[in-house]
Amino acid sequence: MAQQTLTLERFISLNQPAFPGGASVLTGLLSQIGLVGKYLAHDLRRAALLDMLGTTGTTNVQGETVKKLDEIANETFVRLLQQNGQVCALASEEMEQPIILPRSGAQGAYMVLFDPLDGSSNTDVNMPLGSIFSIVMKQRPDEVLSESDLVRKGTEQVAAGYLLFGASTMLVFTTGQGVHGFTLDPESGDYLLSHKAITIPARGKVYAANEGNYHKWPGGTQKYFDYLKVKDKATGRPYSGRYSGCLVADVHRILLGGGIYLYPGELDKPEGKLRLLYEANPLAWVVERAGGRASTGTMRILDVEAKQLHQRVPLIIGSMDDVLEAETFIQGRRM
Ligand code: AHG
Ligand code: MN
Ligand code: MN
Repeated sequence: MAQQTLTLERFISLNQPAFPGGASVLTGLLSQIGLVGKYLAHDLRRAALLDMLGTTGTTNVQGETVKKLDEIANETFVRLLQQNGQVCALASEEMEQPIILPRSGAQGAYMVLFDPLDGSSNTDVNMPLGSIFSIVMKQRPDEVLSESDLVRKGTEQVAAGYLLFGASTMLVFTTGQGVHGFTLDPESGDYLLSHKAITIPARGKVYAANEGNYHKWPGGTQKYFDYLKVKDKATGRPYSGRYSGCLVADVHRILLGGGIYLYPGELDKPEGKLRLLYEANPLAWVVERAGGRASTGTMRILDVEAKQLHQRVPLIIGSMDDVLEAETFIQGRRM
């Protein structure tokens, strides 16, 4: 069985993806994020042995209980990305305010927004976890940065992707030219190209959602879930339910095999649960560049006007035909 041998760094240098500032800057940023992945994979493997499970006893800006591994992941991202001279600002799901790094002049044009540990309800039960990152560029070279510089539309991202901590550790990213997946080789410590130019099937047979929220959903959304469960061979229904509690893991399954993930708006929480800047936007760009679609149910995620750093947004993401179909129900165009 032939072993993959193309490293992340070599892939970028050979493919010279269009990246403002050049391939070497992209390599630096993604290698640093890859290093975060190595540290976190190491920590996750031993967490149960080193009293790293459970909660910190605090709640974050989201009003959510913070797990010890959320904090460890956040600290790892901050510590390592601060060392990258090209990064001038960091924003995290786990930090109310962004960190603005002192960079002079042309140094430090990149701002990284991240969900350091996605799927936190899985930390203590050895289930899949992920990290999500979104990279945008500062617009005003020499001005002092503030939070508003990080609050940008999804179409302004220059790179985005995720780490997936599953049976293997993967780094998946896009800079707008294709979506590529790299698997960490534990022996060599390299991320090797394992999934080149990922394309998502136009339609799948899997849906991922927390159906415990069914009673909270508007009628159109409920009707879509009812529709998915009707037996109809011609349209591949009923779909199979596959929900892991980790957005990254569920979207990764759908990216490779097709289908749809939904965290819809609710009657008393129309904005839904997931965060726009460091969950929905980066995954929306990855899925779109693989040929899929990502919407709030009524509009394209990447076109949503971001207003504040921890803004929430409903997320319907996956295969083009599945998301389009879900939108017809959610928008009441189909009963
Ligand atoms: P996070 O752990 O970063 O807060 O993200 C959790 C998200 C997402 O990963 C997952 O699909 C969803 O929340 C699970 O929410 P429910 O527990 O409400 O289903
Ligand atoms: Mn998350
Ligand atoms: Mn998180």
